Amino acid sequence: MNTLEALQQYTRVVADTGQVDEIRQLHPEEATTNPSLLLKVFQSDSGRQLLDKVYEALKAKNNASPSVSAIAQMGLVWVATEILLCITGRVSIEVEARLSFDTQAMIQAAKRLVQSCKDLGIDTRRILIKIASTWEGIQAARELERLGIACNATLIFHEQQALACAQAGVTLISPFVGRIYDWYVARGLWKEGEVDPGVQSVQRIFTLLKSQGYKTEIMGASFRNIDEILALVGCDRLTIAPKFLKQLAESTEPAECQLKAPALAKEKLPPVTEAGFRWALNQDPMATEKLSDGIRLFAQDSVKLAQLIQAYLDQK
Ligand code: E4P
Repeated sequence: MNTLEALQQYTRVVADTGQVDEIRQLHPEEATTNPSLLLKVFQSDSGRQLLDKVYEALKAKNNASPSVSAIAQMGLVWVATEILLCITGRVSIEVEARLSFDTQAMIQAAKRLVQSCKDLGIDTRRILIKIASTWEGIQAARELERLGIACNATLIFHEQQALACAQAGVTLISPFVGRIYDWYVARGLWKEGEVDPGVQSVQRIFTLLKSQGYKTEIMGASFRNIDEILALVGCDRLTIAPKFLKQLAESTEPAECQLKAPALAKEKLPPVTEAGFRWALNQDPMATEKLSDGIRLFAQDSVKLAQLIQAYLDQK
């Protein structure tokens, strides 16, 4: 048994990529995308063909040249459709990061994505709408879940984000490992041999949510090395980039369960309030900076995608 198979005895493995050819090779059950991964898809060799298909489909539907935003949205859904043809489970698609502080705008954007999926004949139970875990994002996810739209609350760097999501009934959360590690390494606050702070963050979130009996699934994300992945075996899900999936499949190192659900706590924690949430994040420079930075980077990549689409339209 290789390491990937050993790991899969305890944890569902998800492919962290939007590249359909990689998904075809790796046969994962599920996949996650984000604006940066999506930009890579459109910058790749097959990106131009994909744009042609999306452009022609929209033009035929509306009998007019489509806008940049229409192409971007349909492009995202088109990639999701192609991924779904190669997997049996769900794919996560992300709401525009620039909306991360506007609850109503995120709800409307998520509804538009779901409608586009329906228009393409996608079974929307196989879609997770990814939303940044700002206070506003979590409120949007609460409402979407109430409407039956399953969400993946992303960019989780702090337990209060995770707890607020669980209390809001969010289907799945993505605590980031590698970006926490990056923050500590960049400041010389982590040295070889010390416990990885990103791994510790997921361990704390796992213990907290399981001890409170929440159903919200925990999917560790953003990995920098194999050790981080192996330290989190037993997490509900792990979304792993193709290069690490290949490494794990080529290795025979044993993978043992590292995370076990603790006993249920005797008392339920009180609801996270907006003030409590903002204060907790304010007191943690890493969580504050990485949440902002994550939103900024995803927003930048959405702008780059819009520029790429505009350049494509200009050549028409
Ligand atoms: C997946 O949901 C995340 O978007 C992804 O794991 C982020 O990884 P990165 O920190 O390597 O960009």
